[in-house]
Amino acid sequence: MSTTRTLLLVCVSILYYSIHGGCNKIGVNNGLMGDNLPPAEEVVTLMQNNNIGKLRIYKAEPLVLKAYANSGIEIILSVANFQLRNISSSQEAADKWVDDNIRAYYPATDIKYIAVGNQALEKPEYGMYVFPALNNIELAVQKAGLEDKIKVSTTHGRAVIPISFFPSKGAFSDSVKDNMRSFLQFLEDHGSPYMANVYPYFGYLENANISLDFALFKSTAPIVRDGLRIYNNLFDALVDTIYSAMEALGFSNIPIVVTESGWPSYGSGENGVATMENAQTYSNNLIKHVLSKTGTPKRPGKSIETLIFALFNENMKGGDETERHFGLFYPNKTPVYPVNFSP
Ligand SMILES: *[C@@H]1O[C@H](CO)[C@@H](O)[C@H](O)[C@H]1NC(C)=O
Ligand SMILES: *[C@@H]1O[C@H](CO)[C@@H](O)[C@H](O)[C@H]1NC(C)=O
Repeated sequence: MSTTRTLLLVCVSILYYSIHGGCNKIGVNNGLMGDNLPPAEEVVTLMQNNNIGKLRIYKAEPLVLKAYANSGIEIILSVANFQLRNISSSQEAADKWVDDNIRAYYPATDIKYIAVGNQALEKPEYGMYVFPALNNIELAVQKAGLEDKIKVSTTHGRAVIPISFFPSKGAFSDSVKDNMRSFLQFLEDHGSPYMANVYPYFGYLENANISLDFALFKSTAPIVRDGLRIYNNLFDALVDTIYSAMEALGFSNIPIVVTESGWPSYGSGENGVATMENAQTYSNNLIKHVLSKTGTPKRPGKSIETLIFALFNENMKGGDETERHFGLFYPNKTPVYPVNFSP
């Protein structure tokens, strides 16, 4: 191929990605558990000014969906867990959800994925509704003629796959294995990604063998040798553990989207690692890593579609103090710590 033609192709791809919000951009999660968060139009501007290209919204709201029209920002829209039951038992409810929240705004608002529930499969009160709700939403998307444009999935947390010291030994926990098989078949049939919330922070806290440097992308030497694969960061090890778990059930072509990852900048002293400095190190190294073409040892050469949790500190979140300090920005839109969103 001639150089001119190669150059042309590269430019066309760059143009394509800039129109579509971009494979080359980091995403963020817009949690809503705060009573002091800025209105959607201000969030759009904040994201555009920082070159943040993707946003996950936890709850469909008309003003929010409208604010992102023609913004150049790709949206992952969630069906909230509390809506799963109705949508699982009624195709009409699913059709209505898609009419109200997708058809009313698409394509001006660039909705790329629908996440049907958040970590719902691993929660006893929601688990049974996930799969039927997923199927009903998929059918509603097909009726709208959007199945090639908008992919339907659900997010998973760390409970479905126990951490494995060797990523190649990754396996789903027995409690979800049966459900997982039909779920993965659904993803494969519809070209949908597996959505994973991946937190080296919790991996570090819950596993005495993991070093802080490994969790923060600061190890310079190999930490885990898994056959021929070498790991020097925990993020890659966790992502590849999921690929291995899918492969163990016979699915090797489903891509992973990391719907959440982050590190708290302040908190009640759990091992003293929820610090400003560690959060800054983690966020900057994560962005640099996932936007590079390094990929993971099992899937080298591809950037990893990733959304950081979270855009803002959320003052109404319950639980440990750290839960209220995962944000990249304060609600007044000043940065919690400096982050380079387009390294
Ligand atoms: C579920 O459906 C019932 C009957 O249509 C309705 O009254 C209720 O508000 C719905 N619940 C939710 C959470 O949407
Ligand atoms: C920690 O490392 C030791 C020694 O390598 C190993 O025997 C043990 O199983 C590991 N523990 C965990 C939780 O991975």
